[in-house]
Amino acid sequence: MDNIRNFVIIAHIDHGKSTLADRFLELTGTVEKRKMQEQFLDQMELERERGITIKLQPVRMSYSLHTTHYTLNLIDTPGHVDFTYEVSRSLAAVEGAILLVDATKGVQAQTLANLHLAQKQGLVIIPVINKIDLANSKIKEAEEEIQNLLPETIDSGIFKISAKTGEGVEEILKTVIEKVPPPTTNYKLQTTNCFRALIFDSSFDAYKGVIAYVRIFDGEIGAGDKIKLFASKESADAIEVGYFSPKLKKCDKLSAGDIGYIATGLKDPGKVRVGDTVFDLKDQENIKPLSGYREPEPVVFASFYPENGEEYDLLKDALGKLKLTDASLIYEPESSPGLGRGFRVGFLGMLHVEIISERLRREFSLNLIISTPSVEYHVTLKNGKNLNVRSAISLPDPTFIEKIEEPIVDLEILSPSEYMGQIMKLMSELRSQYESTDYLTKEITILKYQVPLSEIITDFYDKLKSVTSGYASMNYEPARSASSGQVGYQKSDLVRLDILVAEELIGPFSKIVPRASAYYEGKKIVEKLKKVIPKQWFAVALQAVIGGKIIARETISALRKDVTGYLYGGDVTRKKKLLEKQKKGKKKMKELGKVNIPQKVFLEMLKR
Ligand code: GTP
Repeated sequence: MDNIRNFVIIAHIDHGKSTLADRFLELTGTVEKRKMQEQFLDQMELERERGITIKLQPVRMSYSLHTTHYTLNLIDTPGHVDFTYEVSRSLAAVEGAILLVDATKGVQAQTLANLHLAQKQGLVIIPVINKIDLANSKIKEAEEEIQNLLPETIDSGIFKISAKTGEGVEEILKTVIEKVPPPTTNYKLQTTNCFRALIFDSSFDAYKGVIAYVRIFDGEIGAGDKIKLFASKESADAIEVGYFSPKLKKCDKLSAGDIGYIATGLKDPGKVRVGDTVFDLKDQENIKPLSGYREPEPVVFASFYPENGEEYDLLKDALGKLKLTDASLIYEPESSPGLGRGFRVGFLGMLHVEIISERLRREFSLNLIISTPSVEYHVTLKNGKNLNVRSAISLPDPTFIEKIEEPIVDLEILSPSEYMGQIMKLMSELRSQYESTDYLTKEITILKYQVPLSEIITDFYDKLKSVTSGYASMNYEPARSASSGQVGYQKSDLVRLDILVAEELIGPFSKIVPRASAYYEGKKIVEKLKKVIPKQWFAVALQAVIGGKIIARETISALRKDVTGYLYGGDVTRKKKLLEKQKKGKKKMKELGKVNIPQKVFLEMLKR
């Protein structure tokens, strides 16, 4: 174990994590230079294109220092807010972290968030400033920011590198070996050599089933061993074990300190969860799980409908396939008048929504109608029953409701100080609660707020970027209760806003909104609908309604076909007669009644 080093690179999005990992792969000869595609560890096509790491891709490398041979296990972590829990589990699997900061951007919100997570895990931090080759790099400023976060670096220094040219990169590898401690078996059980491993990720293979990516903490495991998963209580055979090269490479056994994989043969990816503990079935009497497990927690929900109703089965298949590589994705069937059959899908956050919809579009050629995302509300009824409501349409009538609670998050915004005023103004337009102001340096401010998640899931980030000329970055996390660790909820005065078109309730337009802004919201919706619903033969009333009370109304006037146009001269009685007939016809149509809302109206309304 003395010759193993396990580490991660943590950084704000785009600061160069994958590029640095590529240099490590080259330096250690793990991947031959000529086979090196840029950002080797970002394997998904979409990741490559968008330059964001979605999936962790661990790798084992070999390196010799002073004639000693070392095994270096690197886990590449996703840098985005939605995946905080996954990042935290990767951090729990290692002993050290390279903190990478882009010299042109300086410390940003996720640099901070990830650093805090790493410090919580007690990791050795190796600070590095990247992209020093760029003309617009501001090395001095970045250095001052890091020194304020990690005062010890004033003496110990900060690496300055270019992950692109490779300048300074080898020094980091050497430092990893010197500064990051080798793994230790940190838990002794009464029984000797009990095997325990932490799952920090998984993938799916048609033949080998779910493949658990693990850090072995105690004991060892070989192919053929019987294993069990603590939280999911599932038993399985370890049909194969191995390590990442970065492709899966079979080996005889994995031992304490190692990072590798266990192929479980299980077909349901939901059973192999990030953060769960794998142990040997024969130890089940006296095993204790590794700490830190948490159930997957979708926080944002959206409905997905195929644009072409006949593609429902295709969508169903596609979601099933995506679920194999992304166990955090959950979904259930749903149907709606106007949109037909679809799914209500749960996500870890907004980026997750975007990634999944993009993958459905690209990998499965599906065109989708996606509803405005919503959060999960906790509703207490007057009869004492509790409901979890994920879409407005399932919120009961207000007369039955005792209270509604909604999830709140701790929001952290990092921005050049000159934009403070604009950010505070923006925040005052939300139902936010100001918490604190800190200064990273004289120029960089950190603002903290508590806000309902629903306030920031739609277009908040875009607004924040626009009031700060793109300079602000943000991070949010569920405001957890200190005692239970549960996601924090707060009681809010919320109402269900319904939209009636020609007196008919149109479900997909319903929304849960703060009572205080319900009037404004309702008015906005009916005004927009007036513009997008085509005229009918009769006047169509558009109403925004709360608990049976109309709060806003618009009317789409009737199409008027000039039925008298062909009459010349002044045959008034004839004209009257015709108009009378037309009126009757319209009345009849109205009684028959329905406005057939074309699908493009739904699309238009769902557009943000
Ligand atoms: P996420 O995984 O999405 O968080 O991004 P990342 O941190 O992995 O960043 P990535 O390695 O994809 O780099 C982002 C961009 O910066 C890419 O276009 C890289 O080519 C570029 N880049 C990374 N390091 C350097 C560097 O040292 N110099 C220059 N000039 N460009 C760099």
